[in-house]
Order: sequence, then C-alpha cells, then structure tokens
Amino acid sequence: MSRVRIVAANWKMNKSFLEAIHLSNEVLLALDNSLKHTKVVIAPPFVYQHTIGSMLKEHKTWAHLGAQNCHQAEKGAYTGEISVDMLASVGTEYVILGHSERRQQANETAELLAKKVDRVLEKGLKVIFCCGEALEVRQANTQNDYVANQLKDSLFHLPQSAFDNLVIAYEPIWAIGTGMTATPEQAQEMHAHIRQFLADKYGQEMADKVSILYGGSCNATNAKSLFSQPDIDGGLIGGAALVAQEFVNIVKTCDTINKA
Ligand code: PGA
Repeated sequence: MSRVRIVAANWKMNKSFLEAIHLSNEVLLALDNSLKHTKVVIAPPFVYQHTIGSMLKEHKTWAHLGAQNCHQAEKGAYTGEISVDMLASVGTEYVILGHSERRQQANETAELLAKKVDRVLEKGLKVIFCCGEALEVRQANTQNDYVANQLKDSLFHLPQSAFDNLVIAYEPIWAIGTGMTATPEQAQEMHAHIRQFLADKYGQEMADKVSILYGGSCNATNAKSLFSQPDIDGGLIGGAALVAQEFVNIVKTCDTINKA
C-alpha cells in the first residue's frame, strides 16, 4: 500500500524573521526537484506565515505551509487569537492540532480539539492531528488505550470523508525534545495499532490511506530505521527541523526508502 509520505517541520517558538527566511531558503534550494514520494510541510510561527508561504508557493508541488495552532471560533472578540480564515488568506494549508505542548501548556482538551479540527476541515484546510502518551502511561503499559481514546474523543465524530484531509502524528511525550526516540519497533507497534483502530471504526480501505507520522527526537541518524517501518509514513520534526542540512537529510531519507 503506498501512502502519501509527509515530513513536517514544527519550528515551535524558534527563529527570528531573518533566520526563518534563511532556513526556508536553504531547505527549498536543497530539495527542489528532488522528491518523488514525499510532501514537505513547514510550520513556522504565525508571524512568518505569509512570508514563508510566498517562498513555498514557488515549490507548491511538494512544499506546503503549516500553522502550529488556530482558534476554534470563526471570528470575533478573541484578543490575540488567529482564525482559520486568516490562515487560509495567507496561504496556510495545514494546521497542527493536539500537540502535547498545547495540551499541557495551554490546557487544550479533547473537546476543544474536536472543535478546532471541525473548524479547520470546514474551511478546507488539512489537519495534522497529534497524539501520544506520557512516560507514566507507557510505564503502566496502557499507551494503546490512551492513544485510542485521544483519537476517539477528538476525531471519531467525523465522517469518513474527513480523513482525506487529516494526517495523524504519533508523538510519545517522553520522546519529544528529549533525545529519547521511540525504537522503530515501539513506533511501528503504535502506528499499526492506530491504523487498526481507524479500520475498526471506518473500515480497512480508509485506514490504509491515512498517513501516520512519527514525531519525537527524530533526526537524520534514526530517520531511516523509523521510516522503513510499514506503518510509518513520515515524520513530524521539531529540533532537527531547525538545522537546514539535518532536515533536508531527514526528508531525503524518507523519500528514498523502498516501500511495498
Ligand atoms: P522533537 O519535537 O523532534 O524536537 O522531539 C517533535 C515535535 O514536538 O513535534
């Protein structure tokens, strides 16, 4: 089964404006015309969306603009917030939702995330929906139920067709920014479990089409062993996406793996 491969860069709250332009430029130049199977999503902070988006437009067959969050309301008196319409108007195509940092630091609940997912899809953008367990959950060996519930609570109200515009990213919290990657076997096991859980609800045919990305200390050295797994369709990259050559190598690795 060949699925869309995606490598997404989650820059989080990093880089000045000039650094952001420089990093995008290096990545675009290094990858241009070289990819056969992989889409690249770059998710810079909100303030750089328009500028980076204009740069990506020239490479629109493979490079896409992502945002790291959005507000659930359509518009109105929400000081400091950014709507999906605003993002769409500057060319944003993907919105990352459910990242563990937002669940923890901004108290985003499953219910709120369901509303954000609905808004993004209603406006015709795509969602990269993050899930993943904390270390205590893994130590108690309850990660499968935990992740299944995250999907059920924020996504399973959706019709099957919505999943054409949805990518899932499995990011175990204990692996994010820690240098402690999940082993390829641990990651594959969870990805297969996520796919099975989707199949149980929506059918195998649909589940086989959904791209499931791995995130959590993924870098140019471990990317190959992770992306070679049958149910790992790419990565959501944090720290390693802040260094052009490292990110470029991760994307190239993803693109050149032979998959059935
Ligand atoms: P990391 O972050 O690659 O720095 O672990 C991944 C993420 O949080 O998306």
